[in-house]
Amino acid sequence: MNTNLAAARKSKNDEFYTQLGDIESELRHYRPHFEGKVVYCNCDDPRVSNFFHYFSHNFTFLGLKKLITTCYRNREPSLFSRHDTGRAILLEYDGLREGDVTPRAEDIGITYLKGDGDFRSRECIGFLKEADIVATNPPFSLFREYMAQLMEYDSRFIILGNMNAITYKEVFPLIKENRLWYGPSISSGDRTFGVPDHYPLDAATAWIDGDGNRFIKVKGVRWFTNLDHDKRHEDLILYRRYTPEDYPHYDNYDAIDVSRTRDIPMDWSGAMGVPITFLDKYNPDQFEIIGMDHDVKAGLLPHIPRPGWTGKIDRGYIQGKRQYARILIRNRIPRP
Ligand SMILES: C[S@@+](CC[C@H](N)C(=O)[O-])C[C@H]1O[C@@H](n2cnc3c(N)ncnc32)[C@H](O)[C@@H]1O
Repeated sequence: MNTNLAAARKSKNDEFYTQLGDIESELRHYRPHFEGKVVYCNCDDPRVSNFFHYFSHNFTFLGLKKLITTCYRNREPSLFSRHDTGRAILLEYDGLREGDVTPRAEDIGITYLKGDGDFRSRECIGFLKEADIVATNPPFSLFREYMAQLMEYDSRFIILGNMNAITYKEVFPLIKENRLWYGPSISSGDRTFGVPDHYPLDAATAWIDGDGNRFIKVKGVRWFTNLDHDKRHEDLILYRRYTPEDYPHYDNYDAIDVSRTRDIPMDWSGAMGVPITFLDKYNPDQFEIIGMDHDVKAGLLPHIPRPGWTGKIDRGYIQGKRQYARILIRNRIPRP
């Protein structure tokens, strides 16, 4: 009973269906990347996925070479999936059939995978290797593994996730090394997702529309990508100057605290602690990411703890008060 409940809870949190408008708003920033490319959506039932919808309908417009979509067959029969099916689905589309300008899954034929469609299965890794770009919203409970696999196979990708993921010790180093960054279209607020018909409506943020479709609002959603886009090369306009009153030095870090990203002082060349939302404005030509709090604690940034400091280094402290989580950065081009 408990195992079933745990499985249902986990699968409930993984069954959020991305809205077409959110996909369109993001993918329009990458148009030049798609010409002649094989796109793979590896957590997507073509019958319900708007990623499939977007790429199949824009196949010619984007100049795609091929679209591959695979869908997981949940081992646990679950209340919480829209794609309950006995078998894992494969759809390969190369745009060559006649009359396929706006294809529907039924028109181009679904076939079945031999295995269960797990993105980690040998069969799906075969498609991953064939693909030039992976685009999906993967199950959040498997985000670490999902990202690790993309890195292992050196994949290009645009995926949706929760900004909490950047604090994972497996994920933050990728941001720091500029192997992963946010996409441009979401930098605040919440996003609406479709949820399966049986999704409980107890949450204050869930509702049903006139057609009986269920939705939920989720905070902290971000696109994660390693495809370049213009926004990450835009300078953040800095207008403030350093004063010791406005920018207190941490008790324990050799750095100043900047509690709002827009207040980063233009003339400070040393280390600064900034909120995690800094990443929404991060331009790697303008700023260097030094690390995060947990890097200090792990001893990875030996120059950050103040010399002779013997107290805690789990977070920055100011006058003995523990601060919010911070990213430590440095301005590459401080203005005198
Ligand atoms: C957050 S939902 C998003 C679905 C779809 N990509 C979209 O954006 O609308 C994640 C999907 O991944 C599926 N999934 C769960 N575990 C998986 C696995 N191991 N391999 C592939 N897909 C999985 C879930 O069933 C779920 O439909």
